[in-house]
Amino acid sequence: MKETNSDPHLAGLNVYRVGGAVRDALLGWPVYDNDWVVVGATPEAMRKRGFKPVGRDFPVFLHPETAEEYALARTERKSGHGYAGFDVHASPDVTLEEDLLRRDLTINAIAQRTDGELTDPFNGQGDIEQRVLRHISSAFSEDPLRVLRTARFLARYASLGFTIAPETLALMLQVSHSGELEHLAAERVWVETEKALGEPSPEVYFTTLERCDALNVWWPELVGEGLEKGLAALAQVPESGSMPVAHWRYAQLVSPLTTEQRDALAERLKLPNAVAQLARQAALTHALLTAEFDGPQVLRWLERLDGWRKPEQVEAQLALVKVLAPEQVGRLKSAWQAAQEVSPQVLIAEGYKGAALGEALRERRGQAVVAALK
Ligand code: CTP
Repeated sequence: MKETNSDPHLAGLNVYRVGGAVRDALLGWPVYDNDWVVVGATPEAMRKRGFKPVGRDFPVFLHPETAEEYALARTERKSGHGYAGFDVHASPDVTLEEDLLRRDLTINAIAQRTDGELTDPFNGQGDIEQRVLRHISSAFSEDPLRVLRTARFLARYASLGFTIAPETLALMLQVSHSGELEHLAAERVWVETEKALGEPSPEVYFTTLERCDALNVWWPELVGEGLEKGLAALAQVPESGSMPVAHWRYAQLVSPLTTEQRDALAERLKLPNAVAQLARQAALTHALLTAEFDGPQVLRWLERLDGWRKPEQVEAQLALVKVLAPEQVGRLKSAWQAAQEVSPQVLIAEGYKGAALGEALRERRGQAVVAALK
């Protein structure tokens, strides 16, 4: 496997594949992208080879053709709170082992030379075999996001039999109790959470965070019985559809909460609009399905879903109904179809305009829905 030797951009560079790609290849998990570390080079040398710097302050470069990330070997030391609070030291004298030492988990700190040989100073391979998520050193605590990352990796690999090492769990608890999680940027918290929600065991992410007292910082609404109900709901999501499964799972997770709680979470996590909206709309569907519904309630549901302007939003909720209450899908679909068939043009031809047109439209749609529900 001398793939890089034929790549002129890499000729003579001391390059290793690192992190997730090596871990997942060893686990037999699909690998989507490669990260590389370059030892003994300078930023100038990288630029001369045609690599594009990713940011101003970070020694990370993109390969001119593959666009994969090549990072100069570096050490890091925490110098303050949050993402910016790091002193990064990248220089040609930083060794591969030093770069691996600054990382979070032993399974993420295995490097692979282009000829296949592994460098594994913290026995990541042993932990892969034993199915253990274990931190490398006390540097784990320097980035509180690692508490969330570890919970997310467990959500991914729990079905393979992985557990968190007791000493790592103890450290995660310690990070939670230190108050450092509060300094994370909401966007980073959401990125981890969204990824976790797409994993095979999303519930494990939240139960792990609960176990290390991390839930109350970013998801206080889920502490206690909110979590139990939310996780039960999360297990039921539409299989296909235009929405990512992670977003459906989020919408389901927060469906048992009150409107105020849901909005507070959306604001704290700075949720993308599409996600916050899906959560609100799923809650409308839950509310509709809690009791026998009548025509006016269905009309109101369609209106609040903005169905006339955005029919895809109704279609999405119908997919949810199919999962939550399959026996109701047929009735709701025909009500929706009947309501859509009420044509404003016909009413205009009858002489309606302005506010009267709006009222007549609503009334006819209401009648159509009632008729279809019978
Ligand atoms: N890393 C770390 N601490 C972080 C983020 C990243 O130590 N807070 C290190 C780990 O060695 C990790 C590597 O950087 O393996 C790459 O990080 P990233 O691409 O975020 O994650 P992956 O481990 O590649 O996992 P994924 O499959 O989720 O991309």
